[in-house]
Amino acid sequence: MSLELIRIRCLRNISEAEISPHPCINLIIGKNGSGKTSLLEGIYLLGRGRSFRSRRLETLIQRGSDSLDVFGIATYREGTCRIGLRKTGKGTEVHINGEKVLKLSKLVKTTAVHVITPNSHELLERGSELRRRFLEWGVFHVEPAYRQAAHRYHRALSQRNAALKKDHTLVSSWNAELVEWGEKLNGFRESYFLALRERFLLEAGVFFDTGDLDLVWKRGWPPGRELPDILKDNQINDIKQGFTRYGPHRADLSVRKGGDTVSQRTSRGEQKLAVICLVLAQTEAILRHSGNRPVLLIDDLNAELDQENRIKMMSRCRNSDYQVFITATGWKLPAEHSADKVFHVEHGVITETGV
Ligand SMILES: Nc1ncnc2c1ncn2[C@@H]1O[C@H](COP(=O)(O)OP(=O)(O)OP(=O)(O)O)[C@@H](O)[C@H]1O
Ligand SMILES: [Mg+2]
Repeated sequence: MSLELIRIRCLRNISEAEISPHPCINLIIGKNGSGKTSLLEGIYLLGRGRSFRSRRLETLIQRGSDSLDVFGIATYREGTCRIGLRKTGKGTEVHINGEKVLKLSKLVKTTAVHVITPNSHELLERGSELRRRFLEWGVFHVEPAYRQAAHRYHRALSQRNAALKKDHTLVSSWNAELVEWGEKLNGFRESYFLALRERFLLEAGVFFDTGDLDLVWKRGWPPGRELPDILKDNQINDIKQGFTRYGPHRADLSVRKGGDTVSQRTSRGEQKLAVICLVLAQTEAILRHSGNRPVLLIDDLNAELDQENRIKMMSRCRNSDYQVFITATGWKLPAEHSADKVFHVEHGVITETGV
């Protein structure tokens, strides 16, 4: 997919904006507080139905307005698609080609929007849930049966956890279902992980000395053991703790360098690079599976990378089949690394300027 038109109304400080982005590299320049991240938020909203910086979408609605709108015309190999999203105090409404979409997953499947922000390193620093969700997002795109397996597994897990707290006699009755869906879930995750790891090491080779760098997946229960045995052997401990301690819900993904997790022994800049490589690997894995061009948003590239890596990133974007939106407060790269279109943002007003 690539967006050929984006229209925004009442999103943060952007009252009205309409832009026709380039299918390849778009640069968005403006001072602090001008509205650059808000524009990226609008694009992300179109692709994912949520924001990458606020949990509560109401905060995106411009002060003094009671709704916001984002509209986009997306081009696919098969043709074009019109996507509209309206957020009011009451909820979110999405239309694709004029038809109301009831499930946001339909929107997310249709579009493939990825984001790299100055807070991206949190993916490695924070708890495992964020990383599980990151991997799951990729699996969801490449494996149609994943959604159901995840739903059934989490249902069985919450029933077993309820039994652990209230009625111990019922605990083992949930084991079979937990194992059936847990193993399916894990199988999908592991095969996606292998593709992601291969791609991650390729991406990382551009930015790092990858000699001792690796991407590691822990499935949530000890290697060499079967899930049914683990559940049986740990039942008494699970009852004491009041929750199921092993299973795919405890899985984790880590970037390791020389055996240590990257968040323990590396600089903030290296952590950021590692996350950028993870996002690029995920973007590529989904692209290879769906054949659908992704949209990549890079917020504040200058804060993310030094000049040498910025140039590498520009070449990486240039050699890819992505539509890219990069924001920056200023831009000083050699002419051969220039963008295809440049937009200037000032007090929420977006204008296209010469490259
Ligand atoms: N709901 C809202 N209504 C109106 N204005 C808002 C709302 N939420 C945030 N703003 C304002 O929107 C402006 C643009 O914010 P944004 O984060 O997009 O700027 P930016 O160009 O990315 O800045 P920076 O370079 O500092 O990252 C800010 O001045 C902010 O105070
Ligand atoms: Mg910003």
